Amino acid sequence: MKVVTTIEALTVEVQAAKQAQKTIGLVPTMGYLHEGHLTLAKTARAENDLVVMSIFVNPTQFEPDEDFESYPRDLPRDTALAESVGVDIIFAPSVEEMYPHDGGIRIHAGDQATILCGASRPGHFDGVLQVVSKLFHVAQPTRAYFGQKDAQQVAIITTMVRDFNFSLEMRVVPIVREEDGLAKSSRNVYLSEAERLEAPAINEALQLARDSFLANGDAANALAKAKAHIAARTHGEIDYIELLAYPDLTPVTAETEQVLLAAAVFIGKTRLIDNCIFNVK
Ligand code: PAJ
Repeated sequence: MKVVTTIEALTVEVQAAKQAQKTIGLVPTMGYLHEGHLTLAKTARAENDLVVMSIFVNPTQFEPDEDFESYPRDLPRDTALAESVGVDIIFAPSVEEMYPHDGGIRIHAGDQATILCGASRPGHFDGVLQVVSKLFHVAQPTRAYFGQKDAQQVAIITTMVRDFNFSLEMRVVPIVREEDGLAKSSRNVYLSEAERLEAPAINEALQLARDSFLANGDAANALAKAKAHIAARTHGEIDYIELLAYPDLTPVTAETEQVLLAAAVFIGKTRLIDNCIFNVK
């Protein structure tokens, strides 16, 4: 496995792969790898000749008051983990390497970014699209791998791929969970012992709401049950719990076939997100 830190060095590898007619799987991450990221990498490994994983804590997707500085980082550990699942190239650029110029040009995410996480993190998805579009241009992937854990991110990037004619296949990997159901996240390390015990209530609440909605179609009642569960089992503060048509992220109607039930909850200072997607028809 190679670790490259410059766009030039990655371009050399990508050109060689393209010339040899190899398929390229790209796994974008912010590092501090866990089983969720590694599942994306394993899926990419099974489906492509060359697997590129990017590890870059992207400053442009963090709000000024967020955890960019303190976001967990451990490149040596990440390198060993990535190698163990067959990643061929790690692309780990510096902020200066990724953003040497600022011509003021931005990709602005549309209506899908004004709700859910976008409502409390206004510039977040613009920053995600900025870095992901750069990664797509540099790595030229045949397929790009994202987790359903960030369902809104998947929906918005899929829209960008469609609207800007990126020639690649979006591959979405199911949420990987701890044994007690908590969705794996690099931010779980922020949780105290007591908070860690409360955190699985988010997934439990989503399951309760899904079962309730499937039983009687009453969204308000389903969401109320989820909120009550979180209030009873945690000291957390709910940012949102919502039920929306997927992947459009529009209100559920009689025509809706697939539903996204998504939540963001502050457990202590840590904001955790989780979701489930299910068919209603
Ligand atoms: P990061 O939070 O590091 O996540 C990288 C990828 O791993 C994302 O596609 C995310 O959905 C996926 N992932 C995280 N936890 C997962 C889990 N428990 N199960 C399955 N997949 C999981 O998402 C980002 O980084 C950034 O926004 C990025 C796309 C890299 C752009 O900077």
